[in-house]
Amino acid sequence: MMLVLVQVQVQVVVVVILSFSAATKAAPPAEADLKNHGCVNHCGNLSIPYPFGVKENCYLSEDFFINCSDSQPYLWHSNLHVTNISLDKGEVGIMNYISRDCYDLLGTPLQSNFYAWLDSANFSISTKNKFTTIGCDTYGYLRILDNNNSFAFATGCVSSCMNMSYVPDDGSCSGIGCCQTSVPKQLSYIEVDAGSYNNHTDVSNFNPCSYAFVVEEAAFNFSKTYIQNFTEDMVPLVLDWGILDNETCDEAKRNLTSYACGDHSDCYKAEIGHGYLCKCSNGYKGNAYLSYGCKDIDECADPNLNQCVEESKCLNTPGNYTCSCPKRYHGDGKTDGTRCTADRVLVLQIVIGNAIYVKSKINKVQHLIHIINEFGRIYLQPTSPIGSTSFYTPVT
Ligand SMILES: *[C@@H]1O[C@H](CO)[C@@H](O)[C@H](O)[C@H]1NC(C)=O
Ligand SMILES: *[C@@H]1O[C@H](CO)[C@@H](O)[C@H](O)[C@H]1NC(C)=O
Ligand SMILES: *[C@@H]1O[C@H](CO)[C@@H](O)[C@H](O)[C@H]1NC(C)=O
Ligand SMILES: *[C@@H]1O[C@H](CO)[C@@H](O)[C@H](O)[C@H]1NC(C)=O
Ligand SMILES: *[C@@H]1O[C@H](CO)[C@@H](O)[C@H](O)[C@H]1NC(C)=O
Ligand SMILES: *[C@@H]1O[C@H](CO)[C@@H](O)[C@H](O)[C@H]1NC(C)=O
Ligand SMILES: *[C@@H]1O[C@H](CO)[C@@H](O)[C@H](O)[C@H]1NC(C)=O
Ligand SMILES: *[C@@H]1O[C@H](CO)[C@@H](O)[C@H](O)[C@H]1NC(C)=O
Ligand SMILES: *[C@@H]1O[C@H](CO)[C@@H](O)[C@H](O)[C@H]1NC(C)=O
Ligand SMILES: *[C@@H]1O[C@H](CO)[C@@H](O)[C@H](O)[C@H]1NC(C)=O
Ligand SMILES: *[C@@H]1O[C@H](CO)[C@@H](O)[C@H](O)[C@H]1NC(C)=O
Ligand SMILES: *[C@@H]1O[C@H](CO)[C@@H](O)[C@H](O)[C@H]1NC(C)=O
Repeated sequence: MMLVLVQVQVQVVVVVILSFSAATKAAPPAEADLKNHGCVNHCGNLSIPYPFGVKENCYLSEDFFINCSDSQPYLWHSNLHVTNISLDKGEVGIMNYISRDCYDLLGTPLQSNFYAWLDSANFSISTKNKFTTIGCDTYGYLRILDNNNSFAFATGCVSSCMNMSYVPDDGSCSGIGCCQTSVPKQLSYIEVDAGSYNNHTDVSNFNPCSYAFVVEEAAFNFSKTYIQNFTEDMVPLVLDWGILDNETCDEAKRNLTSYACGDHSDCYKAEIGHGYLCKCSNGYKGNAYLSYGCKDIDECADPNLNQCVEESKCLNTPGNYTCSCPKRYHGDGKTDGTRCTADRVLVLQIVIGNAIYVKSKINKVQHLIHIINEFGRIYLQPTSPIGSTSFYTPVT
């Protein structure tokens, strides 16, 4: 009786500690807080999840401000149109400008030529993008500026072709008429320059323009017709983002006032170079940047999410689930586990288990003899608990 009482007291203490730490951890806003501030979570058709927001007090910092003044989402105070925000990947999709260098049949540059640059501020250009040029008298420079807005380095692409028939029909960006190269990691400020060697005079009958742009590789398919006529003004581009912080996740967690991840979430290093991302822990889903944003997944509601065998009962638990076997059955009830076995069989199994145990001892002795034969000396392995180091002592 005493023992039971003590146990109950200990449990009460534990519960108090848990709820206390949960209360101090509630630094990120809850969905209700955002509602109270009159925040809206969309702009036109695009959903705008926190830490992004379209109004003051609705975003985590200025970096996550989306200007939705004409029902079209733009990043911060820019002309970059936002097409997609992914919390899980730490990415935001935008439409990016194309540099264009066009000539008339006499080789005179056209008025419509356009020079593009991109300042993604505290976001960085994802390596999922490629620097791309299109044309048959064409070069493209990707110039990278440092934090001081001065030239740091450049990379580029060249494609020359004397005849349309050399350009492949299969849509591949092969280097003939279309050239692609990787974009270095963690760039924020780029200039994209398209140019030609001979003002397209040798190719003017089939290729009047050179184009250069950075584009999400998966969202762009080259077409041979682009050599003659490429009408896009903008192409999709992926930016990486993160919670700006020069500290590692472990350090960021120490300041619970500034730590951006909500409960039941984990912290990950962001692609932007410094800073971090939050993701819901296994067994939870939702918005990891909100308090109470990560909600328990009911694995029992979806047969694809649980491994309970048919005869067992699925029980949802916080962050997980258990399968319980019917009465007089035992096992973990899981298809990839010990399933459910009638207790009657258990008795039989113990007998078989013992037999296996004895057999395995015999096997071990045989194994030792084998080692002696093989190497002429015995390696003894002292039994040790899991997780500790094992020593192999040679005995001669
Ligand atoms: C929103 O989506 C609907 C259907 O997908 C589309 O018809 C409509 O034009 C979209 N509105 C805006 C503002 O993009
Ligand atoms: C980028 O982050 C720095 C440091 O947090 C901040 O001072 C600056 O305003 C941010 N830039 C933009 C464009 O928001
Ligand atoms: C949002 O964009 C509109 C026009 O696109 C501009 O007039 C306005 O100043 C911008 N608002 C902010 C807060 O940057
Ligand atoms: C938006 O982003 C997600 C994740 O990055 C991607 O799966 C989805 O296809 C994107 N949607 C559009 C319309 O680009
Ligand atoms: C940026 O420019 C300032 C003034 O010209 C200079 O003092 C500083 O060293 C520069 N920083 C870098 C990283 O080049
Ligand atoms: C392109 O080259 C092929 C093969 O050399 C030739 O048959 C064709 O006439 C050329 N076409 C043009 C438009 O010059
Ligand atoms: C291309 O056009 C520019 C501007 O009209 C001119 O200065 C240049 O000489 C031309 N180059 C060639 C190779 O025709
Ligand atoms: C590019 O081509 C592939 C294969 O034909 C296709 O699956 C994909 O949808 C295309 N992408 C775009 C953006 O057109
Ligand atoms: C270029 O293509 C667009 C559609 O993609 C078409 O409307 C236009 O007429 C074409 N122009 C020429 C010169 O072929
Ligand atoms: C991160 O550190 C760099 C260099 O020490 C500094 O320039 C930058 O302002 C810091 N950014 C933040 C968000 O603390
Ligand atoms: C924790 O973060 C808050 C908000 O950014 C800041 O005001 C405070 O100084 C930080 N505390 C420590 C110990 O760094
Ligand atoms: C659920 O519990 C099992 C057994 O303890 C464990 O192997 C599994 O990783 C857990 N799943 C999640 C999503 O936490």
